Amino acid sequence: MAAGRFLTALTKALTSMQLYGAQHPGRQGAMAQAYEALRRLMETDVRPRFTFIGDEAIYNDLPLRSLRGWDWAARFDTVGVQRVEIDPETTQEDLEAFLGEVYDLLYHPTVDSSVTSHRRRSTIRWGAVGIRDQRYQQKAEPSDSLADARRRAVVPLMEEGAAVRFIHDEVRTTGQIPLLEAESVIRSLSAAMHAEPAVVLPLVTMAPVDQYLTTHAINVAVLTMALTEWLGRGAADVRAFGLAALLHDIGKVRIPTEVLVKPGRLTDQELSLIRQHPEEGARIIYESDTRLDLAATVAYEHHIWIDGRGYPRLLFARACHVASLIVHVCDVYDALASVRPFREGMAHDDILSIIEQGAGVEFDADIALAFLSMMRRWETRAASTTEPSLLPSLPQLT
Ligand SMILES: [Fe+2]
Ligand SMILES: [Fe+2]
Repeated sequence: MAAGRFLTALTKALTSMQLYGAQHPGRQGAMAQAYEALRRLMETDVRPRFTFIGDEAIYNDLPLRSLRGWDWAARFDTVGVQRVEIDPETTQEDLEAFLGEVYDLLYHPTVDSSVTSHRRRSTIRWGAVGIRDQRYQQKAEPSDSLADARRRAVVPLMEEGAAVRFIHDEVRTTGQIPLLEAESVIRSLSAAMHAEPAVVLPLVTMAPVDQYLTTHAINVAVLTMALTEWLGRGAADVRAFGLAALLHDIGKVRIPTEVLVKPGRLTDQELSLIRQHPEEGARIIYESDTRLDLAATVAYEHHIWIDGRGYPRLLFARACHVASLIVHVCDVYDALASVRPFREGMAHDDILSIIEQGAGVEFDADIALAFLSMMRRWETRAASTTEPSLLPSLPQLT
């Protein structure tokens, strides 16, 4: 459907603004495609209107059911872009100016672009529902609330978040993993982890619920790189294991979000759908690039317990790759710590005791103990910092 294709192209253009500078062909191409998708839509509808409320994207008066896995509606809603109306004479320049305003709201909420935007009459009107034909900007008010402070703390990792969403979108639409982007996320997370450990781990507990898969991928990658380094392995392993961790749940990108975040018991059918994600992920990774064989192995093995339980069932008992053992511990930690729609994140100490109890049963004993000592060391450091910190910071890795 043309409306769905336009929204997908629009958010790809927003992502390209995160990834590339203004003159980069990747960004210019994404902008041109978004405009082309708009022209196509206008062949049948000269004045399209969109509404974003909660998880729902509505085109004119029709909810867009075709946009499975497209999780931007809630983000637009949150920053006050709830209604968008596009005039027939809209040019590509108008569309780019609109995207620039939305981009600032999403990623630079403290930038006040209202002064310049009010001067120009735009052919794209947007705002909050109920304030038709009038610009509405939700400005970041100075506030000391915990939620605001947390939101600010997450901002430094927005770019990686956008890149991971881009990777997931590509897998959803093409079935292929964009390897260059995945590798660049790992490089950048590794740099952030060493340069500013205090801002990296906050994501562990601050995942916005609608971005569960993205945030989980980043958290597990960061924890895996930290633990791999803690175990004394070299830089090549740290990067390779980090990349495998980033992609470990890629088999989930095609599972409907409602199933992934469903509160309460899953039906047998839903459970079996979720349990296919290791095999599905390994297949996607392997078919994308055979150089990613370690990542494919980790995707396949990350839910297998060392006593043979878990899934998928191995046909004969064999040891899993050390990268899978590391990712398994980090995955469980983040899964329990994350706030999900159906529960609060579990307390840090409770998760550590679960991991301790699982050492030698679910988790490789040495790796589980190394994880515990890394986390405890990191807590000690966090407690001794003079700056009051909302959250623990990463261990200072040497
Ligand atoms: Fe998984
Ligand atoms: Fe996972």
